[in-house]
Amino acid sequence: MSYALELKALTKSFGKTEIIRGVDLAVNAGERIAVIGPNGAGKSTLFNLISGRLTPSSGEVLLNGERIDGKKPYEINRLGLARSFQITNIFPKLSVFENLRCGVLWSLGYRYTFLRFLSNLDDANERTEELVRQVGLERKRDVLAVNLTYAEQRALEIGVTIAGGASVILLDEPTAGMSKTETSHFIALIKEVTIGKTLLTVEHDMGVVFGLADKIAVVVYGEVIAFDTPAAVRANAKVQEAYLGSSVADAQAGH
Ligand SMILES: Nc1ncnc2c1ncn2[C@@H]1O[C@H](COP(=O)(O)OP(=O)(O)OP(=O)(O)O)[C@@H](O)[C@H]1O
Ligand SMILES: [Mg+2]
Repeated sequence: MSYALELKALTKSFGKTEIIRGVDLAVNAGERIAVIGPNGAGKSTLFNLISGRLTPSSGEVLLNGERIDGKKPYEINRLGLARSFQITNIFPKLSVFENLRCGVLWSLGYRYTFLRFLSNLDDANERTEELVRQVGLERKRDVLAVNLTYAEQRALEIGVTIAGGASVILLDEPTAGMSKTETSHFIALIKEVTIGKTLLTVEHDMGVVFGLADKIAVVVYGEVIAFDTPAAVRANAKVQEAYLGSSVADAQAGH
């Protein structure tokens, strides 16, 4: 059995500066991984390398055992990996339903011939209705995305991300800019819609991290310095020293 996602000796340089410095990581199918680390550590760059937005300088990226480094983002998406961005990527002038339907139809479009595509429209509509429910936007179904609240737009964005049925989902700071209440609601939503999927999410809030993750990957200065269960990462002296310190103590104390 291969890993859902595997990184082997991955590096990325911008000019002479090596930003990602030899990352090895093996994620089992169905695991939820929180990627943490200080600002500028290379978390988003890592996601860009995985999703094909950036090409590695050296090393390998494997999705379900298949090499994907060097492939285009849409090819990687087709193979079952979807990501959301720090910036919301939804169509503002389309309704919630229409946005989600785009995601569903797009995924059907490349998997089927046109005739089968047409016969699958009913399926697509059903799947879209299910997504509307999953992301909790039933009452906003026909509202234009531009008129949603910020938190609702992020929920829609998660829906668009999972619409194609990808098995590996990357989320880069999905709760950024949300209130405490919005964040806990949103984390529950993320947990629910990624059941049975593999999730990697960049997150700064340690309370969220410890509540969500099966494993934590600690990225410091372009390296993964720890990859383990929350309890083990909490107890890891190297992590404490390099990065976590008081924020972990706070999370443990329930702040
Ligand atoms: N296209 C680029 N060209 C040059 N340098 C870049 C490029 N993209 C990122 N960097 C640099 O790479 C480093 C890592 O950036 P990255 O955005 O991956 O960090 P991050 O861990 O996601 O940080 P944050 O928590 O602030 O989002 C930073 O020093 C950044 O300036
Ligand atoms: Mg980032």
